[in-house]
Amino acid sequence: MQKNNEKIELECSFCGRSTLEIGQLVTGEYANACICKRCARRALTVLDIQKKERAKTIPIHDEPKDLRPIDIRKKLDEFIIGQDSAKRKLSVAVYNHYKRINASSETYANVILEKSNILLLGPTGTGKTLLAKTLATILDVPFAISDATALTEAGYVGEDVENILSKLLQAANGDIKKAEKGIIYIDEIDKICRRSGGSSSGRDVSGEGVQQALLKIIEGTISNVQTGGNRRTGHAEFSQMDTTNILFICGGAFVGLDEFVSKRITNVGIGFNSKLSTDNENLSFSKLMDDIYPDDLIKFGLIPEFVGRLPVIAALDALDEDALSRILVEPKNSLVSQFKSLFDIDKIDLTFTDDAIHALAKKAIELKTGARGLRAILEKAIFYLMYEVPSDKSISDVIIDANFINGLSSAEIIRRPEEDNTLINIKSSRATSRKKVPEQQIVLGDEALS
Ligand SMILES: Nc1ncnc2c1ncn2[C@@H]1O[C@H](COP(=O)(O)OP(=O)(O)O)[C@@H](O)[C@H]1O
Ligand SMILES: [Mg+2]
Repeated sequence: MQKNNEKIELECSFCGRSTLEIGQLVTGEYANACICKRCARRALTVLDIQKKERAKTIPIHDEPKDLRPIDIRKKLDEFIIGQDSAKRKLSVAVYNHYKRINASSETYANVILEKSNILLLGPTGTGKTLLAKTLATILDVPFAISDATALTEAGYVGEDVENILSKLLQAANGDIKKAEKGIIYIDEIDKICRRSGGSSSGRDVSGEGVQQALLKIIEGTISNVQTGGNRRTGHAEFSQMDTTNILFICGGAFVGLDEFVSKRITNVGIGFNSKLSTDNENLSFSKLMDDIYPDDLIKFGLIPEFVGRLPVIAALDALDEDALSRILVEPKNSLVSQFKSLFDIDKIDLTFTDDAIHALAKKAIELKTGARGLRAILEKAIFYLMYEVPSDKSISDVIIDANFINGLSSAEIIRRPEEDNTLINIKSSRATSRKKVPEQQIVLGDEALS
């Protein structure tokens, strides 16, 4: 502060002491702010503490998790039933992909590690999308799904190929660096095959155009991605995104592809091993696809450049009754555990007998939609229970068996001892055929069935 006209005496803006007391002060460029040595030191300490606190609370997710193929496989097992071969191939491919990104360019200056995008083949509802999504979760990287059938070549009405990148950027909360290490799943890739390729489901010429458009972002390019504004009003904002390190996983059912492969193998086999053709018929889809050649995919209608950009091919098998039954109960967050929790909130123990689970699986097989139909089937089967049971506070257990699933009998209901000690089977007399449970000793849950 200016005390008199001859001498300007300053005060520290933080502690208020003057230059008379403490000697020199550092003055700010603007305004009249000053700081003394002691306060400057204190400020540094405070900033340091704050920085350490922030580091503790904000998890650093900028780098994909460093997991080995076996670790990735184990994690996949928690969510996905079966599909052994696909899981193993994906674990290795994904491990290599992130190893490639992380390998410093100086160390491997003379070796270019090429990107290994992945092609997933397999019937609908067998876990293609689930696999891709689970991988992204395991590695903690952003993930986006697009449907190839919705894509168009640039300039046509429909979804531009660049939109896929916008989706990924959204999934990364706008963080471009993070998005550039994400995973993009493109579904129904077999629907953009050339018709001339021999598949009946192809999309004619424009399918090839979409493949061309996809090719660029899949092999790695700098793309302009809309980050804000509105394209129609001409005020869109764009940022540049490098797709070199984005892992692309393309999936499709490729109905009929197995016949291409099988025929080729059989033809080769003629004269050498006549047993081959019958052997092929017994091979699972994934085993047969171990012998796939890029040429088979080209014959199917993918353009050669596109096939060349998807070097890792993994196949998923149709799910049989056993696999579907396991899917109902085994994965983390399985359908059965979800419905059990729903009932649990009302303090009701919901139990499915083994034969009930198999009956549900059988119904899913009839639907031919893989595991995709399971939720609807289960929901439909127990809808009436979900409607009625919560209003009846005396109910402690609901047991569901195959007959109930098949509409042949009602569900088994057990009431709380204080309300009623007997087993009651609403609208059915089956309770009498069950092993009699002594009064006061009603066993709940699975044990009730043994
Ligand atoms: N192998 C599997 N293991 C566990 N759940 C599966 C499996 N396959 C499919 N599902 C279930 O079915 C749903 C649909 O599967 P999805 O991955 O979308 O099939 P696809 O992409 O092959 O058509 C999944 O969300 C999952 O609940
Ligand atoms: Mg899918």
